[in-house]
Amino acid sequence: MPVILDARGLCKNFGAVTAAAEVNAAIEKDSVVGLIGTNGAGKTTFINMITGYIKPDQGTIEYEGRDITPLPPRDITRLGICRSFQIPQLYPSLTVYENMLVGLGIVLRNARLAGFFHRREGDVPGYGKPAHEVAEHLLERFGLADYRDRNAQVLPGGARKLLDIALTMVAKPRILLLDEPTSGVSAQEKFGMMQMVLDAVRAEGATVLFVEHDMEVVSRFAQRVLAFYDWRIIADAPPQAALADENVRRYVSGNRA
Ligand SMILES: Nc1ncnc2c1ncn2[C@@H]1O[C@H](COP(=O)(O)OP(=O)(O)OP(=O)(O)O)[C@@H](O)[C@H]1O
Ligand SMILES: [Mg+2]
Repeated sequence: MPVILDARGLCKNFGAVTAAAEVNAAIEKDSVVGLIGTNGAGKTTFINMITGYIKPDQGTIEYEGRDITPLPPRDITRLGICRSFQIPQLYPSLTVYENMLVGLGIVLRNARLAGFFHRREGDVPGYGKPAHEVAEHLLERFGLADYRDRNAQVLPGGARKLLDIALTMVAKPRILLLDEPTSGVSAQEKFGMMQMVLDAVRAEGATVLFVEHDMEVVSRFAQRVLAFYDWRIIADAPPQAALADENVRRYVSGNRA
């Protein structure tokens, strides 16, 4: 598979605090990549640099052969790299369906501002359908149709996370970065939720990077694992090999057996 995203030599310091120290990773198109590492290891910083929220002090990020390092987050999103946050970003007093429409409204507005003309006025770029149809389509894909008319603030934790991720899909991303999609989700719900998310996201044709602390989730769902320790990647391999790596066992998974 061709490389869709290539991070080279990324370094970032916040004053005396290191957040990235020579991070290198080449991500293949259509892959599912798990990012692991203890607290403060640099996973979110990596996501922040790819999405333009933080600029690396050194290094470059190429997306489909184009250097996106200097671009602001909005332009990077427009090119097809989207993210979710560790804490869901929802409009709590709006319904699930209304949350989707707000997200889609922003996409349509940005498309208009960018002078992005599509065949039918009002169709959502990438989907070729009007916003209300895309909203229904995504709610169905993410198993949220039953919650359609509930306020976002009363949703159970798992559904709230699903809505947050469904909202990232309104822009039809080519790469989706998920920061701890299962945090706050019960152990019983986790596997079903990840299955649903990955089925939905991959059906829409996106490459996925997800941060995850639960090694069972990682080994079940990632095709490849990047293990962060001390702000660099200490292992980059399929899950079985990465989780068996001596340094990963010592510094990341805490399993010295
Ligand atoms: N905006 C910032 N200002 C100052 N320090 C920061 C900033 N963002 C991250 N850091 C520091 O950089 C280091 C890496 O943090 P990062 O958030 O990337 O870790 P993480 O691997 O996502 O951890 P967690 O598992 O706890 O989410 C930490 O020491 C953190 O305190
Ligand atoms: Mg983090």
